[in-house]
Amino acid sequence: MILGIESTAHTLSFGLVSEEGEALPSSSDLYTPEEGGIHPREAADHHSEIAGYLLRNLMNENSLQPSDISAIAFSQGPGLGPCLRVGASIARGLSHSWDVPLVGVNHCVAHIEIGRNQTNCNDPVLLYVSGGNTQIIARRGGRYRVLGETLDIGIGNMLDKFARTHGMAFPGGPKIEVLANDWLAMNSHCTMDGISLPYAVQGMDLSFSGVMTAANQKISDGHRLEEVCWSLQEHSFAACIEVAERAMAHTGKEQLLLGGGVACNARINEMARVMCEERGATSYCPPKAFCVDNGTMIAELGRRMLSVSESTVLEDSAVSPGLRTDQTIVRWD
Ligand code: ATP
Ligand code: FE2
Repeated sequence: MILGIESTAHTLSFGLVSEEGEALPSSSDLYTPEEGGIHPREAADHHSEIAGYLLRNLMNENSLQPSDISAIAFSQGPGLGPCLRVGASIARGLSHSWDVPLVGVNHCVAHIEIGRNQTNCNDPVLLYVSGGNTQIIARRGGRYRVLGETLDIGIGNMLDKFARTHGMAFPGGPKIEVLANDWLAMNSHCTMDGISLPYAVQGMDLSFSGVMTAANQKISDGHRLEEVCWSLQEHSFAACIEVAERAMAHTGKEQLLLGGGVACNARINEMARVMCEERGATSYCPPKAFCVDNGTMIAELGRRMLSVSESTVLEDSAVSPGLRTDQTIVRWD
């Protein structure tokens, strides 16, 4: 078994993948701020406090001994420095005391590899939609290339901030999805035009702060929260799907893979499915537990890196908060 440790932001998670690539459920806990956005040091304190419990839980549930673990993978970046450092310290400690290799992995690439592991798609365009990241990615020439991305905030961060402004605690994305569905149910008898919001596609890039400001304004103008939630999803998801479609057209790839926490949303999955069907392509999405941040995805990327003899020596194991998707050289299948 390869043990994976995820600690880039809100989530601390330990997960396991067998050497053959069987992915087991992670043992995770989410830090939720009492008010406001994430405070990196408080999140890091949360991670240190809960780590021992989560790891013991995972080992006991799977009846594992330390001798069953053949390597330790951890998120080296991108993410919040204090949070990353907790995961990296645990990983270094375990690797040293259990005498097994250490593998520092790129968190964004891990979202891709768990998706490939779970869906068996082999060469997709990836639509990576999470709190901190919104990227359209495709593999070419030994890298996962970023073909388009948000120029300001991540789509999930936009949803969380909008939700917080209107009294909904983190994570806001799932709550917005419920309200949008309520609006659909209230209007099931008629055709909906929705509210007009900015639609921020700029070439292959996206932006979300303008649409959030406009959505807040619509609430001040007296529109119902459910209606604004529905329109916010329609506008922001359609923008992502448009860029993903253009990426598929340019690269000639016939698979779309969704990943990141926002990929839990049924509406963005539906849009992806329709777009792919219309162009004779196929849309894939891993189960929700593997869309959100999880230790299993870190273990899976560690497994693939070890398959091409890549591991991380102690001197190279410092965290890398600004690591980009396309900085990692991809040598594995
Ligand atoms: P990354 O470091 O990759 O940016 P992250 O820290 O944002 O990851 P994830 O677990 O990948 O963590 O994603 C969390 C985000 O997913 C939050 O913004 C949350 O609101 C959003 N999300 C979760 N479920 C849904 C949903 N059903 N609809 C929309 N957004 C969702
Ligand atoms: Fe993530």
